[in-house]
Amino acid sequence: MPTSKPDSGAHLRPIELVGRDERVRIDFPLALAPMAGISDRPFRQLCHDQGAGLVINEMVSSKPELRNTRKSEQRRLRPDDPEPRAVQLLGNDPDDLAQAARQAYADGAQIIDINLGCPAKKVCRKAAGSALMAEPDTVARLLEATVEAVPCPVTLKMRTGPDDSQRNAPEIAHIAENAGIAMLSIHGRTRAQKYTGSAEYDTIAQVVAERGIPVLANGDIDSVPDAFHVLSATGAAGLMIGRAAFGRPWLFAQLRAALENRGVPEEPAPTEIMSFVRAQFEKIYSHYGNVMGVRIARKHWGWYSSRLPIEEGMRKEFNRLETIESQRHWLDRREADLT
Ligand SMILES: Cc1cc2nc3c(=O)[nH]c(=O)nc-3n(C[C@H](O)[C@H](O)[C@H](O)COP(=O)(O)O)c2cc1C
Repeated sequence: MPTSKPDSGAHLRPIELVGRDERVRIDFPLALAPMAGISDRPFRQLCHDQGAGLVINEMVSSKPELRNTRKSEQRRLRPDDPEPRAVQLLGNDPDDLAQAARQAYADGAQIIDINLGCPAKKVCRKAAGSALMAEPDTVARLLEATVEAVPCPVTLKMRTGPDDSQRNAPEIAHIAENAGIAMLSIHGRTRAQKYTGSAEYDTIAQVVAERGIPVLANGDIDSVPDAFHVLSATGAAGLMIGRAAFGRPWLFAQLRAALENRGVPEEPAPTEIMSFVRAQFEKIYSHYGNVMGVRIARKHWGWYSSRLPIEEGMRKEFNRLETIESQRHWLDRREADLT
């Protein structure tokens, strides 16, 4: 996809995150949301190549007993991950979180993101993620301990509050700024909403107006008009994109071009979509190996293939393939059919 220099009226400006001893610049604050099971190394690389200025690694538990599992190992940052290297941590114990932050920093993290946004039951049963938004004092202790633990910037991801009667994101944002948090990302839903209803941007706008640290607005941004709408509704310094990028990493190139006042690339043709599939799947195979690689490729194929002119029964055939080689050969044939 074509890239050219932004003109001086670009809609997003670089932001600088200030940590205890280190500063990190995000040249273009258009972020891929941290998403467990999705924002893995292959997908982060692809979205970064398409223009995302920040790609946050999947969440890693701060519980010592979960830190050295195979899954945590696969999620560990590597020096060749796109910069700035950001990792998300989840936890409810200040010492565990501080220790996990130190470990992530030692692995090369340049930004530590803390998750107060996840509504998943598994997470909330441990009173972590968005369940903690109902416990502002605990939040303060967790954030202070993490900021104290690492020299790099620490950021916070959250929702608008526990439920409709308690949209306390402004209070949590105040606590966060006082604790030394360098940036906030806010998903415009309450914890109780999970993913139902629509994202709401007034609470995000209130936080932007009240706080001095940059805010990324998140929730239901699916297109160029959505991006402009959310920016003007919130005044946020940047945007964060989650589900809209599934099987559609080129959305970042489109959003970036629009936000830099350049011509927006058209939706890719089927053969171009296949090139994205092939590029991502090869990365998946080398990152996860045969068994997991095959399974993870199936998940992404579901999203990509819904955008391709391939008949339903044929699309599903892919899910029955059991090896990398059979998936590759099958995709070779589909690619030939599409040209
Ligand atoms: C499959 C999936 C996994 C997610 N995992 C996380 C996570 O690990 N940490 C987190 O803070 N948010 C997580 N989220 C929430 C997203 O980061 C984002 O806030 C949410 O999807 C709303 O943005 P969107 O409307 O652009 O998708 C997840 C969302 C999805 C769909």
